[in-house]
Amino acid sequence: MHIEYTLKSNKRTEIFRPTEQLVFGKKRTDHMFLMDYDGESWQNARIVPYGNLSIAPGAVVLHYGQEIFEGCKSFKHDDGEIYGFRWDENAKRLNESAKIMIMPEIDVDIQLQAMHALMDLERLWFPEQKGASMYLRPFMFGTSDSLGVKPSKTYTYCIFLSPSGPYYKAGFSDPIRLLITSRFHRAVSGGSGAAKTGGNYGCSMRSIEFAHKFEASQVLYLDSNNMFLEEAGAMNHFHVTKNNEVIIPHFTDTILKSITSCSMLDLNLDGITVRQEFIGFKHFINGIENGDIVECGGFGTAAGVSPVGSYILESGKEYIVGNGKIGPVTQKLYDTLTGIQTGTIKAPEGWIQKV
Ligand SMILES: Cc1ncc(COP(=O)(O)O)c(C=O)c1O
Repeated sequence: MHIEYTLKSNKRTEIFRPTEQLVFGKKRTDHMFLMDYDGESWQNARIVPYGNLSIAPGAVVLHYGQEIFEGCKSFKHDDGEIYGFRWDENAKRLNESAKIMIMPEIDVDIQLQAMHALMDLERLWFPEQKGASMYLRPFMFGTSDSLGVKPSKTYTYCIFLSPSGPYYKAGFSDPIRLLITSRFHRAVSGGSGAAKTGGNYGCSMRSIEFAHKFEASQVLYLDSNNMFLEEAGAMNHFHVTKNNEVIIPHFTDTILKSITSCSMLDLNLDGITVRQEFIGFKHFINGIENGDIVECGGFGTAAGVSPVGSYILESGKEYIVGNGKIGPVTQKLYDTLTGIQTGTIKAPEGWIQKV
C-alpha cells in the first residue's frame, strides 16, 4: 500500500517523558492515518497531522450510527523496541463488525500496514513511564450525505494513537463492584451485540450511571430473559471455581468476542484450566454464596484483567466473592498476560509483532 505523508512542521523530536501520571485515552500524538472508501475500493491512504475531520451534517454515521471501532495496544520491551499485541486479531474483528453493520471490510494486511506505519512514525511518543503503553484506536464510519436508513456508500477509516499510563495507578489492586440488574440490557439476540459499534456503548451510558448509584463501576449484563450472565460494558466476565477453573460465558451474538478472553483460552497455564459455559444467574449467585466460586473478574484490553470483589443487586443485597480481595488465580492471569505483553514472558507464536 502506498501511504502519502503530510507531516506536522513541529512534530515531536524527543522521547515523550510525561511529568504527570498519564490517564487512559486522553492524550493524542501528532499524526493520524486516514483512508477513504468511494463505493468500490479503499484509496487515498495518508498520514496527516492529528486534527478535526470534515464530514457532511447529513453523514449516515451522525444519524444512524453506522460506525465500528477497535482498541489495541503496543508495549516497549527491555530491548527498547515497540511491539504490537495481537493487532491481527483486532483487524479481523473489525471485519467481523463490518459484516454485522453492512460496511466494507479492509484487508487485514492493509490494516496492519496502516497501524505499523503510524506507530512507527510516532515512536517517540511512546511514553517513558513505568507500565505505560500506546493505545491504538482504529475506526470506520459511513460518510454518505443521505437521510435514507440504508448503508452508506462511502466510508472513512481512521487510526489515532493515545499514549497511556498504567491502568492500575497503585499496582494491580482494588477489586471493583458490579451491579447485576434486570432493568438494562446491552444487547439482544439478532442485534449488534457482537459488533464493536458505537451504538452498543451509547446505550450503555444510562446503565453505567445507574450502576454508580450503587457505588458499582459497571453493570454485569444478563441476557434479555434475565437467565444467563453475559458481559460488562467494556469487558468480558470470568469467574474462578474452587477447582482452579476459569469460566467465561460462551460467546454468542450478544457478546463481544474479547481478544483478551481468547488469549486466556489459548494459554497453557500450569494448574489452571480456562473454558466457556453458559452461566445461569442463579447458579452464579449460589456459587458465590456456597463458596464454589472463589474469584471473579473481567477481561479487556484497557485493564487486561480487572478483579471483581463483589456484586450488588438492585435490592441492595451484596455478594462478596471469597474474601473480596484479589485471588491467586486472578493474579496469575494478570501477571502472565502483562508478562507476555511486556516481553518478560515468552509469547506464543505470532502474538507480538515488532513495529
Ligand atoms: C463490550 C466489550 N466486551 C469485551 C471487551 C474486551 O475485549 P478485548 O479483550 O478485545 O479488549 C471490550 C473491550 O474492548 C468491550 O468493549
